[in-house]
Amino acid sequence: MKLRFDYNNMMEDSIGKEGIKESAFDKNAAAVAAAQKSVLDNRGKGWQEWCDLPFAPSAEIDELISYCGKIGKKAESFVVLGIGGSALGPLSVASSLLHLHHNELPKDKRKAPKLYVEDNVDPERMASLIDVLDLKTAYFNVVTKSGETSETLSQFLILYSMLKRELGKEEAKKHIIVTTTIGKGTLYDVAAKEGFKIYGVGKGVGGRFSVLSPVGLVAFAALGLDVKAMLAGAAAAAKSAEETDIRRNPALLTAFLQVEAMKAGKNVSVLMPYADSLKYMADFYCQLWAESLGKAEDLDGKTVHVGQTPAKALGVTDQHSQVQLYTEGPFDKVVTFLAVDEFRTTVVINDDKEVAACDFLKGHTLNELINAERKATEFALKKANRMNYTIYLPSVTEETIGELLMYFMYQTAFAGAMLNIDTFNQPGVEEGKKATFAMLGRAGYESKLAEVNAAVHKPEYIIG
Ligand code: PA5
Repeated sequence: MKLRFDYNNMMEDSIGKEGIKESAFDKNAAAVAAAQKSVLDNRGKGWQEWCDLPFAPSAEIDELISYCGKIGKKAESFVVLGIGGSALGPLSVASSLLHLHHNELPKDKRKAPKLYVEDNVDPERMASLIDVLDLKTAYFNVVTKSGETSETLSQFLILYSMLKRELGKEEAKKHIIVTTTIGKGTLYDVAAKEGFKIYGVGKGVGGRFSVLSPVGLVAFAALGLDVKAMLAGAAAAAKSAEETDIRRNPALLTAFLQVEAMKAGKNVSVLMPYADSLKYMADFYCQLWAESLGKAEDLDGKTVHVGQTPAKALGVTDQHSQVQLYTEGPFDKVVTFLAVDEFRTTVVINDDKEVAACDFLKGHTLNELINAERKATEFALKKANRMNYTIYLPSVTEETIGELLMYFMYQTAFAGAMLNIDTFNQPGVEEGKKATFAMLGRAGYESKLAEVNAAVHKPEYIIG
């Protein structure tokens, strides 16, 4: 693996009684080994098909790279329509690997289509998207694993009608790729009937674990990213998840540290990248950690209400916003830093002789400054006895991003197994989806509508 992990500041040795005792490793060794075994034994089965994604048959990957690569060459804009796991993977990875102002770059410098990941159904956002798209050169990946999600289906209906009006039906069809479960769901039926290009999401690949399936790969190939290097990085993380020595298995180790932290009342997990390119990785992590671990019942049917609230922060920006709370507020957080050794560029702070001040900054680089600030925050947290650990990426590349994604997914799976919960379901999300269907009058949801309407809002508790 290329990533490095420094967990000194999770331990009692470093932060005193707020830290984890060295003896916790021996005390919990059997439970940790059982959790690891249950995850590894289920690779490729049930809801753990995501474990196999880095090892997808090369013919499938080659076809996807070739087809989507050609689309990417023709496209001025590539639009992902999806929400939750169908959007955050493509968004976080593309944001990590593209120029930070990719869409604003002039065409000759951009070398890949503009990217839009449209997850929300805010009408102003849709209208704004339509304002900036030239439909003749816009291509769409409509992503919904279930094929039933109201947000994505609405976006599809709006844009497909516009495409047909503008380009005619036969041409419009060529602008749409559908990524969904083959043979199941409303979108699959429509796509098969209309003759869209379809990519499958494996039955056992849940939304938040799907980034390395066509849910993410279609966009990555269209953008000319190195899909194979990403899968190779993910494969390296999958290999390291097999390591039985916890000290050599970062996903198992940090799952264990987080679960121990939860037991000690650390109910908040902050992911704080010190790199703008990794800003949306925090969104990816937040969904993965929240939806997977926030559960009411354990696998034995016992009411547990477990989970750890994920929060996102950006270094250094949030040093001037959140860090005061992290160092002096309640002892309820674990902060995970994402650090980058080598940025893709170096920017020198000019040694401007005419400005007779700021001498301590002159001649240094922003690279030095951002990493010094990260170390300074880490030091401040340690001094205040706050749990934190750092994940180092040597640089942000397809390979290290693939590794990071797979590490996060294994970490989550191991933590879920340690908590004895179903990591892969999301009954709370499904409830909201059903209530939306009911309120929009979908057939078959009449009793759900009655239930929703029965939730009375008393006027005495409403102001204005
Ligand atoms: O992780 C999940 O399962 C969810 O966040 C889903 O990805 C999200 O609800 C969208 O579902 P779908 O892909 O079926 O449209």
